[in-house]
Amino acid sequence: MEAQNLLGKVPSQNTFFSGLLEVIFLITYTVYTYIHLVYRWIRPRRLKSLDGEVFLITGSASGIGREVVYNLATNHPRTILVLWDSNESANQHIVDAVKLLGVEVFSYTVDVTNREEVEECARRVFDEVGFVSRLFNNAGVVGLGDLLSQTPEKIEKTMDVNVLSHFWILRSFLPQMIENLDGHIITTCSLAGHIGLPYDVPYAASKFAVRGYIESVKAEMRLHPLKPKIRFTTIYPSFVNTPLISRVVYKFKMQFLFNPLEPRYVAEKIVEGVRRNEEEVFVPRIGEFLVFLKGIMPKRAFQKLSDSMIESLYFKEEKVQ
Ligand SMILES: *[C@@H]1O[C@H](CO)[C@@H](O)[C@H](O)[C@H]1NC(C)=O
Repeated sequence: MEAQNLLGKVPSQNTFFSGLLEVIFLITYTVYTYIHLVYRWIRPRRLKSLDGEVFLITGSASGIGREVVYNLATNHPRTILVLWDSNESANQHIVDAVKLLGVEVFSYTVDVTNREEVEECARRVFDEVGFVSRLFNNAGVVGLGDLLSQTPEKIEKTMDVNVLSHFWILRSFLPQMIENLDGHIITTCSLAGHIGLPYDVPYAASKFAVRGYIESVKAEMRLHPLKPKIRFTTIYPSFVNTPLISRVVYKFKMQFLFNPLEPRYVAEKIVEGVRRNEEEVFVPRIGEFLVFLKGIMPKRAFQKLSDSMIESLYFKEEKVQ
């Protein structure tokens, strides 16, 4: 029996010459992608219509999720919305508002950390709505406080909601996307998935995990023998004024870099990024520049920059200074 790789392919002969060809190809391809980047910068991709798309949003009843729902319902009333949230009454409130706009909407009360519940609910969505073409994994939690004040329960919950839920949800929805050779997975990550964040170590750890997870799933889909055209859009917001952080104010020395953003504005950027099939959406865009700086600056210099951005943490209620 011949040796096969994970994809069942028989490896080709590796010679010095084939290796050299690969290197030449990669250099040429890199030059081409640089040119293409400049071209895209001058001429962004066209905005695609979302008519007829089934859009499932987790964490639909608050924060960024809710604003994305309102944005879609208002500007793209021919999308079909599927709202997943663990808070039934809050979710129902959104459904009522969206129905008034004449949009087709389905809602489900589901705890995304519960594997069986996710599977069961995904089956119901498939029966009642059909194929989910746009999946927005957005549900998330924040648990502010210094590392040693984080309770084990809070740490586990952060990992369950922010990381593990993605696995349970994709296990349910990815097979249909592969079968249809089509789909779009949108993920809320965070700038804290690129740059560590003091006073919310579990959150930053969970977002680093999400970034590695998405990068790996994307690679697996590129190598998939069926070549499914599954698109990915990952969102990297910095500070957003959501219920998650409104209790707390991070004080920045360089405040101009990070005025907390309104969820409505972030939602606009997300929907626009989805319609343009952007792979990454940084809100604000300066986040991408910071990631670039992290890559090129000496470590100690970047740490200085990072520390002076976040000087200290203030709890509003407790007025700690
Ligand atoms: C559900 O949302 C409502 C607001 O619509 C809020 O008052 C309530 O505390 C939430 N329940 C839970 C368990 O978070």
